[in-house]
Amino acid sequence: VLPGFVDSHTHLVFAGDRTAEFSMRCGGAGYEEIARSGGGIVVTAEAVRSASEEELASAARGRLDAMLQEGTTTVEIKSGYGLSVEAELKMLRVIRSLQGQTPQTLIPTFLGAHVVPREFKDDRQGYLGLVVEEMLPEIAAAGLARYCDVFCEASAFSLDESRQVLRKAHDLGLGLRVHAEQLHRTGGARLGVEMGAASVDHLEFISEDDVQLLAQSETVATLLPGATLFLGMDAWPPARRLLDAGARVVLATDCNPGSSMTHNLLLMATLGCVRMGMRAEEALASITREAAQGLGMEGEAGVLTAGSRADWVLAEDRDPLGLVYQFGSNRVRGVMCGGEAVRWDGVPCVGGLGS
Ligand code: NIG
Ligand code: FE
Repeated sequence: VLPGFVDSHTHLVFAGDRTAEFSMRCGGAGYEEIARSGGGIVVTAEAVRSASEEELASAARGRLDAMLQEGTTTVEIKSGYGLSVEAELKMLRVIRSLQGQTPQTLIPTFLGAHVVPREFKDDRQGYLGLVVEEMLPEIAAAGLARYCDVFCEASAFSLDESRQVLRKAHDLGLGLRVHAEQLHRTGGARLGVEMGAASVDHLEFISEDDVQLLAQSETVATLLPGATLFLGMDAWPPARRLLDAGARVVLATDCNPGSSMTHNLLLMATLGCVRMGMRAEEALASITREAAQGLGMEGEAGVLTAGSRADWVLAEDRDPLGLVYQFGSNRVRGVMCGGEAVRWDGVPCVGGLGS
């Protein structure tokens, strides 16, 4: 029996279809090139804006159900496909309503600073003002998010712009997370550490200095091998160097329609082992105890201790490392979430087995 898995970085509320974009990438087009020519995140934003709350919730529920059957009992979910006051609030309301529809624990994160939407193409400052002066205060007042995240990247928000968003979020009492150094080194990881972020995420292009800085900080390093794999990159995040230096390493799916279309957290653990130098035990810790720590849920989730929530995974094999070893298939035999059986003997509990 293992603790329920914790997926601490997802964008699983979305609408629309980006299969054509995937096909273009398979034909050699780059992720940033597609974004520059009007594709990418803004395409999903169009679809999210025109979807109803019920449509968004129902699609997200399907993903959450699938994750639950794979043992994921705690899930962080970001907004960031609305990119307007109205649509960002809509996404966060959907996340809140999902909490009443699943036994999983959901952690909402505001990611209004994902990219500049089309209508603000020539007025970045205008969009930033909207995020800082309108979205953040309204979201904080309504208690709709626990964290604020920002995509600090050449094609998204600069270091300076990211700092403005994070500073305001911090002043409003939100915890901080940063998408940093995914495609280029921008200094986002250092900014996150300096501002006391709970987590800096991606980190494909961090420097040796950044590794040391993270090792000496309370900020966790959340690595997203699904995005590295799915974008066909060779720059695997340096899990081994981070662990050897003494940093806390978390693995998450980054579940999103553009750069990591998966909800398979155990596959991330396998990739951590075979591409990033992690030991299987470390990989399991990174999707349980360490991930909970990065969500400020130390002792509540990701561990099997008195006082933690009864979120348990029963492995099919005698050796729990079999879950990481037999990759791509679901070797989870049973799942208990919040004290209720939701999977037993390798199949979903229809109607539940009760407590
Ligand atoms: O974490 N990096 C920013 N956001 C997502 C990609 C979102 C998308 O392409 O839709 C990520 O990789
Ligand atoms: Fe992400």
